[in-house]
Amino acid sequence: MLVFSVETSCDETSVCIINDKKTILSHIIYSQKEHNKYGGVIPELASRAHLEILQKISKQSLKEAKISLKDIDVYCATCGPGLIGGLLVGSIFTKALAIGNKKPFVPINHLEAHLLSSSFNNEVNDPHLSFLLTGGHTQIYLVKNVEKYNLLGETLDDAIGEAFDKVSKLLGMNYPGGPEVENAAKNGDDMAFDLPHPLKDSKELNFSFSGIKTAISLIVKNKKIIDEELKSNISASFQNIVTDILIKKFNMTLKYLKNQNVNITQISLVGGVAANKFIYNKLEKECLKNNIEIILPPKNMLSDNAAMIGWACIKKLYNNNINDLYFKENPRLTLGR
Ligand code: KG4
Ligand code: ZN
Repeated sequence: MLVFSVETSCDETSVCIINDKKTILSHIIYSQKEHNKYGGVIPELASRAHLEILQKISKQSLKEAKISLKDIDVYCATCGPGLIGGLLVGSIFTKALAIGNKKPFVPINHLEAHLLSSSFNNEVNDPHLSFLLTGGHTQIYLVKNVEKYNLLGETLDDAIGEAFDKVSKLLGMNYPGGPEVENAAKNGDDMAFDLPHPLKDSKELNFSFSGIKTAISLIVKNKKIIDEELKSNISASFQNIVTDILIKKFNMTLKYLKNQNVNITQISLVGGVAANKFIYNKLEKECLKNNIEIILPPKNMLSDNAAMIGWACIKKLYNNNINDLYFKENPRLTLGR
């Protein structure tokens, strides 16, 4: 079975041709540069860029895979959550290909694709715990099976990746901010600034990050010069507090699951922020203490990409056949509620 998948929910325009034997015949990710100078994604620019680039990379991917549209068995695209303009461009383009070639169209939930991405390269023991850490979401899931997810907690304000992006912008560094902050932090003192730990005493599994960003904006305001040392120290202190928060919520979640008599042996870190080595290493140590295995998707399935959309489609087709040309694109599509 050959699947053609499309991802356009934010600022990556991506297509993939993948088969059910896990062979990726072609995978193209175009990270839009249009937003760099603004320090964040401009939705209108994103949809225009998707329109311009999607057809080109689709043709390129068919060429790379050495196939034609006639060879594709199933079409799928992200239908939410995300920016509505991008979702409409990607989904309507792909639906049109499905109609024109008389093949099924499978709508994909972007969050579900992130959650399933770690099952591409790992033997997953369900139920497992998953931390979904992206630019738009910060969520804790109990993954029971394909299409069976329990949302245990999520951010009440900024997403973790968004917080990285905003801190990078405050420090005059580039977008996306995650890799910039991680890099700057390498030379910094992570105890240089005593940043707040929001919801520290809360019994819930929710997150809050916006107060940390506000604290950093006040520090920056009071400094005349933002030199490399300051950038590194703020980045290191920020990355450290954010990691402390993740570790605290990880331990609280383990306790919660134990009380519910749910036994888990694995945690997956998925989404763009899961690429952060500092966070991974610290959480890995905590996992070792608790006899839990920590797993990651392949590197090219961490940040937004069409391969995870195609893989989610294959997993969902194994589960049941979902052909839905009439699925309405939804910028606020949820999962596991
Ligand atoms: O999963 P993703 O590509 O998009 C969404 O679904 O939102 O995640 C993008 C986010 C951005 O906020 C980016 O700054 C962050 O992932 N990110 C990182 C790192 N690499 C990307 N955050 C921290 N450390 C990184 N190394
Ligand atoms: Zn994503």
